[in-house]
Amino acid sequence: MTTSMRTYRRAAVALMLVTASLAGISSPAQATNQIAATGAPGSGDPYFPNSGNGGYDVLHYDLDLRYTPPSDPAVLVGHLTAEATITLLATEDLSSLNFDLRGHEVFAVWVYGSGAKHGKSPAERVPAEWSQMRDDASRVWELAIQLRPKLKAGQRTTIEIEYSGNTGRPVDTTGALYGWVTTADGAMVVNEPDGAATWYPVNDDPEDKATYTFRITVPEGKTAVANGLPDGRPVTTGGWTTWAWEASDPMASYLSTASVGDYVLSYDEGPGGLPIINAIDAGVTGQPLTDTNAALALQPRMMSFLADLFGRYPFEAFGAIVDDDSVGYALETQTRPVYSHLASEYTIAHELGHQWFGNAVSPADWQDIWLNEGWATYIEWLWAEHQGKATVTKQFTDAVAELDRKNLWALNIADPGRDNLFVEQIYRRGGAAIHALRAEVGDAAFFEGAREWLGRYDDSSATTEDFEVVMEEASGQPLDAFFNDWLREPNRPAMP
Ligand code: ARG
Ligand code: ZN
Repeated sequence: MTTSMRTYRRAAVALMLVTASLAGISSPAQATNQIAATGAPGSGDPYFPNSGNGGYDVLHYDLDLRYTPPSDPAVLVGHLTAEATITLLATEDLSSLNFDLRGHEVFAVWVYGSGAKHGKSPAERVPAEWSQMRDDASRVWELAIQLRPKLKAGQRTTIEIEYSGNTGRPVDTTGALYGWVTTADGAMVVNEPDGAATWYPVNDDPEDKATYTFRITVPEGKTAVANGLPDGRPVTTGGWTTWAWEASDPMASYLSTASVGDYVLSYDEGPGGLPIINAIDAGVTGQPLTDTNAALALQPRMMSFLADLFGRYPFEAFGAIVDDDSVGYALETQTRPVYSHLASEYTIAHELGHQWFGNAVSPADWQDIWLNEGWATYIEWLWAEHQGKATVTKQFTDAVAELDRKNLWALNIADPGRDNLFVEQIYRRGGAAIHALRAEVGDAAFFEGAREWLGRYDDSSATTEDFEVVMEEASGQPLDAFFNDWLREPNRPAMP
């Protein structure tokens, strides 16, 4: 891929705007009515300003993917040919809108009768003009789609996008593998924070949750696993098998997955008969497999334990995708976390904890990441205590000692900077902050506040400030000084 900016197709106003903002050129002369009707190319997240888009809310993604894994395992390049059918609601009058889609070339776009005439039968779809603004240097590609007639605020439409491209091994801004990560036997798909655009056109903003349908067609013998529940049995024709998954709980795009491997599926049940579907790569063998199976067998008990503390498990299903390849970490993909090489007991507790803290309630902006990782770390401590390993107080003291030893108190974990989302301070100081908060307000207010947080922002997203408000209400005490001390001050906080 080149690192130069290239445009496909006719340049439109939206495209010029995108180009201008990406190039850092302001264009006041273009401030006309037509521009006001153009959905913004970014969501306004300070860390990822060009991720996400303005002017609409996605309701549903229907992703039809055909994936060819690498033919030569020494060259980790696969191929994806896909059709994304996206149903959305305009929140402004729109003459055009953008999606994020990186590393793929679009070859057709259709719009199903915008506005009042909306519907979805092939006869009603009309081809739309579109353009791709490609910027490999900043890793952002925008897909701008013209809407004729204009879509009025409050109207729905469905947009169908055909695209294809080779898949490689994308990395985030820190160099970690993410997005559609091609492996020798398939793909590990882990998008956090802004990797969803490496495999589908998306409004890549954790504030825009949607439901998903996946149809993933892979060479016969391969297994494709996504979020949610299977929609029927896999269907094989002509050497290709289509795996269908339906994710009916609203989901942030960074939590979507469609991983492909030599997975063997197994089934279990959580509290109330909740379906658990585990996928373990046939390449996981020996001790890692024994340990993984023993740890996965604890999932139903972990779910009951957390449901007793924080309220019922928030989604329709759970399970694990355990790949024999590695991206270097595990990810809490909604209803079905992805694990590298093996799934260990405390990593499972962590990723399960994220289903409440991070997935049901997601960060409004990426700077709120400590809310995800602090809570998930604290849930590891709670599980360890429950298992009789060490008290949470002991684990808190150990985390503080580690932060002392490494002198890691300088970072403002409530605004850590784009490249510090997953550093040790986010996890350890974040977990310690949750424990210190519990000590500050007492058990009753702490658990009441946690449940209120999960209830008030369920299927939605919220900020650190929102969390503080909920905890102040639950405890009846001002917490400004506490939150500043534990999150923002570049010093060791006052210990409980
Ligand atoms: N959220 C993951 C966890 O459970 C870590 C994700 C790391 N992602 C990345 N792009 N480095 O801890
Ligand atoms: Zn985590």
